[in-house]
Amino acid sequence: MGHYIKNDGYIEFAERELREKNRKTVAFYRGVDPVIWTVDTEIINDVFVKHFSSFTSRLKPTGSMGQGKDIREALNVITDPHQWRRVRQTISPSFSNRQLTEMLEIIKDRLDILEEQIDGLEGEATDVGTIAGKFTMDGTLSAAMGIDMNEDLKDLKDFENHPAVRHFYNLMNPGPSMFFYVMIPGLGLLADEQLLIDKKSAKNAQRGLTETEIISQIFVIFVAGYETTKTLLQTAFYHLAKDQKLQQEVLKEVRGLDEHYDNLNPKKMPLTCAVLHECLRLFPPVGIHLRWCEADTMVNGIPMTRGASIEVPVDLLHTMEEYWGEDAHEFNPYRFIEDPELEKAPFFLPFGAGPRNCIGLRFANIEARLAIQRLVSNYEVSLPEGFVPDIKLIRLPSFFMDFSKEIKLHFKRR
Ligand code: HEM
Repeated sequence: MGHYIKNDGYIEFAERELREKNRKTVAFYRGVDPVIWTVDTEIINDVFVKHFSSFTSRLKPTGSMGQGKDIREALNVITDPHQWRRVRQTISPSFSNRQLTEMLEIIKDRLDILEEQIDGLEGEATDVGTIAGKFTMDGTLSAAMGIDMNEDLKDLKDFENHPAVRHFYNLMNPGPSMFFYVMIPGLGLLADEQLLIDKKSAKNAQRGLTETEIISQIFVIFVAGYETTKTLLQTAFYHLAKDQKLQQEVLKEVRGLDEHYDNLNPKKMPLTCAVLHECLRLFPPVGIHLRWCEADTMVNGIPMTRGASIEVPVDLLHTMEEYWGEDAHEFNPYRFIEDPELEKAPFFLPFGAGPRNCIGLRFANIEARLAIQRLVSNYEVSLPEGFVPDIKLIRLPSFFMDFSKEIKLHFKRR
């Protein structure tokens, strides 16, 4: 994947064709591989949902996203349909309502600790990525995996220098201390659930994971959950700091609301959810959705041949004027309140689409909503003097998106 995003020639060509020539689909060759870039909602629906059985994988069977050998069986990169179904079915119950309600209690504890650490900063302007990153890492590790790393990650200022965090940034080839911190306790927990199966029985099993698969899933949940939710929270705090009136309205909505699972939804906190949706629209943490065609299929009248890669550039899809109106490029959370159906629109896909969409969607939503509720209730968030709020989205040499510069914010206790 890295080589692809870095190779500006393809990207620039496809973007130009879609954006400037106002097309919805463009086909080209990347080397010998046919590629289709599309923001056409009918084609997206056909590929991601209707004809899913011909497009179960993101990559061709021999493909790689640059992952190291230890995470080659992670859910997001598995190419064998049977293996993917078994692994997904095995992990899915971990994100049920009951599990999420339990996880919420753990996330609340992590927020208590985060508050103490923010108070320790004594109002000093701080990179919001550090605050969001610390909380997300702590939240994902403790709630999703039952690992408490708080003692290790105690100091917010030093957070990014911790060996485990540094290794995270090189996760595709994790180093030995990452194994120590993350894999060993997590492996034990999953194995305790009696999900462990051997390689031979995996071929026919409907449920269960081999040891390599367990290690891979621990990594993918950590990677997928960390970077994405961190980006979402960074974007949200930046916009709330930039627009104090909006922050006051969110404060009015969330202050005093019980921190309960049943309250973390658009009915109970419409503006908070709308702000987060708008952040996901304009700053989608995952920049491209991929599917690989494994059997010749007619899609919306277009013949797709085995081997074609279908790719959806999410930032383009989320800013098409035809779908979003003239203010497509402006930050306007109220659009999701005026039209609550937008949340389910086929052109709003921050978590992907179809059976292979994001497995952590609901976990990410409750984690982010609770973090906004707690921190906005207790802190006034503002931009430091002289900070020019001109943040833009940039594509990283991976699936993830990033910001054009560091976002420093003040968190002052109310
Ligand atoms: C704001 C937060 C998040 C965003 C925007 C996000 C976005 C995405 C997207 C776009 C995909 C690909 C979907 C597709 O191809 O249709 C994906 C897949 C995935 N996500 Fe997330 N994600 C987030 C949080 C999380 C969390 C918290 C977890 C785990 C706890 C997680 C675990 C995964 C996994 C395992 C996959 C691969 C699923 C599969 O291949 O079956 N994500 N995510």
